[in-house]
Amino acid sequence: MHLIPMPEVFCGSDALEALSSTLAQVNAQRVFIVTGPHVSQTDGFAAMKAVAEMGRDVAVFNETQGDPSVEQVTEMIAQAKAFGADAVIGMGGGSPIDAAKVVAAALFNDRKVEEMVGTDLVPNRCAPLFIIPTTAGTGSEATNISILTDTEEQMKKAVISNNILPHAAFLVPELTVSMPPRITSMTGIDAFCHATEAYLSKRRNPYSDGMALRALGLIARWLEKACSEPENLEAREGMLMASFFAGLAFTNASVTAIHAFAYPLGGRYHTPHGMANALMLAPVLRHNLDGNEERFADLSEAFCGIRDAETFVPQVQALKKNIGLPMSLEDAGVPEADLEPMAEAVLGVTRLLEVNPNPIGISDALRIYQEAFKGE
Ligand SMILES: [Fe+2]
Repeated sequence: MHLIPMPEVFCGSDALEALSSTLAQVNAQRVFIVTGPHVSQTDGFAAMKAVAEMGRDVAVFNETQGDPSVEQVTEMIAQAKAFGADAVIGMGGGSPIDAAKVVAAALFNDRKVEEMVGTDLVPNRCAPLFIIPTTAGTGSEATNISILTDTEEQMKKAVISNNILPHAAFLVPELTVSMPPRITSMTGIDAFCHATEAYLSKRRNPYSDGMALRALGLIARWLEKACSEPENLEAREGMLMASFFAGLAFTNASVTAIHAFAYPLGGRYHTPHGMANALMLAPVLRHNLDGNEERFADLSEAFCGIRDAETFVPQVQALKKNIGLPMSLEDAGVPEADLEPMAEAVLGVTRLLEVNPNPIGISDALRIYQEAFKGE
């Protein structure tokens, strides 16, 4: 078993108080902050920036796009280098956090972004990297992965290296209350997929199993409440912990075919990541049920207290409906004619399909997309 280290974590309403001392520990003098246009206008961002500025110079990149492209991250790196950054803060959803990881990597590695895409292509530890999520789902604060978009190939590309693991993460429930229910539901289902896929992965181990099942229990308890009562801090903290635990689970065990099938949707239609996973999860899980009934019974028990392999998928379909997620690719506006090219494209995501519990060939891939199209 090989366990990947987790970052130092501060969780709770006062977690950001530790940011200044944490920056001081690495002697950060010039801090480059990566965030998005919405988050940069919030009071939470202003409070965080004030802490970061205590005795330090700070520069902000606040134009991170959703699904950041290789080109945009290259531009961020140029700005961070021109500023002379020696530490990086990523604040926001998965997009600015993933971008911040690659910016921090580029500060201490003389490589272009394209040269770091792949596994273990970041030779040196990244610049000190601090992560502050404002959504609860990506778990990116716990992982050694950054997902970028290759706009030419219309595909997601991953930088995977333990050298981009964050140094510290700050999980503050108040920073997630302004998330609208739509984002809360999509990101929450992303965490659900991280936990479920990690639990079924061929690379799973007892540690990732424990994290995955605990995350599922928290999601079952808090996701609907976080959607219906956005100001409920207990629900928000529960989902932040779920997201973090699910992140630890999948960084140690990998995600599998749900994420693989979601990639072409994100690349072609910019379907938000969590929504793409939500659309694909039921047919992929049904494909994986055969031969893995005991694992599915474990998942069902953790998620809804019923030890029955067949119950798991209907339960999560019901949750998706309750939190207002679209149920079919057709509802999401995907043309039926594109199912075949997407089925061909998904077979190229070998990194994830290789660890999926059941093999997936071209006819399986097409059937899975067809079922997702119909919302089955
Ligand atoms: Fe994900």
